[in-house]
Amino acid sequence: MELVLSMSSNVALNHTVKDDIREYWGKRSETFDLSPGHEIFNEEERTGWHALFRRHLGAGQGRQVLDVASGTGVISLLLHDIGFSVTGIDFAEPMLARARDKIARKGAPIRFVLGDAEQTLEPDATYDALVNRHLVWTLVNPDVAFAEWFRVLKPGGRLLIVDADTPVPRTLKAAWLRAMARLVGRFQKGATGHVIDRATHDRIVSQVYFSQGAEADRIVALLSAAGFTDIVVDRDLTAIHRGQGRNMRLRQRLERASQDRFAIAARKPESPSLA
Ligand SMILES: C[S@@+](CC[C@H](N)C(=O)[O-])C[C@H]1O[C@@H](n2cnc3c(N)ncnc32)[C@H](O)[C@@H]1O
Repeated sequence: MELVLSMSSNVALNHTVKDDIREYWGKRSETFDLSPGHEIFNEEERTGWHALFRRHLGAGQGRQVLDVASGTGVISLLLHDIGFSVTGIDFAEPMLARARDKIARKGAPIRFVLGDAEQTLEPDATYDALVNRHLVWTLVNPDVAFAEWFRVLKPGGRLLIVDADTPVPRTLKAAWLRAMARLVGRFQKGATGHVIDRATHDRIVSQVYFSQGAEADRIVALLSAAGFTDIVVDRDLTAIHRGQGRNMRLRQRLERASQDRFAIAARKPESPSLA
């Protein structure tokens, strides 16, 4: 009995915030693709993503891209569409299972592997490009992750981060939009089918590096410290957001309009000495 007690308390002690994050996304995988803003529901949005990737990464032409935190494979498939040879990596097995099932149905030759964004175990200087969507806000050690992404990129390789600063409205207009979203939410009837465990979500947010919001400027500073150059913040995501908005309910559209949503592009220098 004593042994059982001490083992279970060790398990509890060893349960890290990363375990919490992995379990949270494992559960959310069940309904993730039901939500506009995650899965894609119209061609306008799909075309908007293709244009964003071409703008910052160029045409795929069989080049190697790593989709870090690939989830159910939405971004991996978009990169495959424009000709990249894609590897997706995620640390939540249920997400990977859904991604593998999806690409098997579509017949897309994408490799999905289990791994941590902060320690991918991929070889040095392997990828022409590295992309992630909606990962950075939930990283525990973004400095470690950015150094890892720098390591696996080839010299001259491109990085593209797509993320959002969501917890705190930063302007009066944003605060008003957030208040309207909450008001509309009270009257909006009917479930969307997409389930979020709000208590676990909020507990995780309070423990991650960007607990006060993943502000673009702070991400840029960390990327620069990791050695990336030619860093550009791109907020022209209009086509993507317009496409998503067509399938979103009013509360979600208002909530999103209150957030700063952006892409950040950067480059690993050809020669580290030029960094
Ligand atoms: C909001 S989902 C985004 C999924 C996908 N990028 C997309 O946009 O459709 C966040 C994903 O990040 C993954 N994730 C979070 N932290 C991670 C880490 N340290 N290493 C690998 N995957 C991670 C989760 O398992 C989850 O699949």
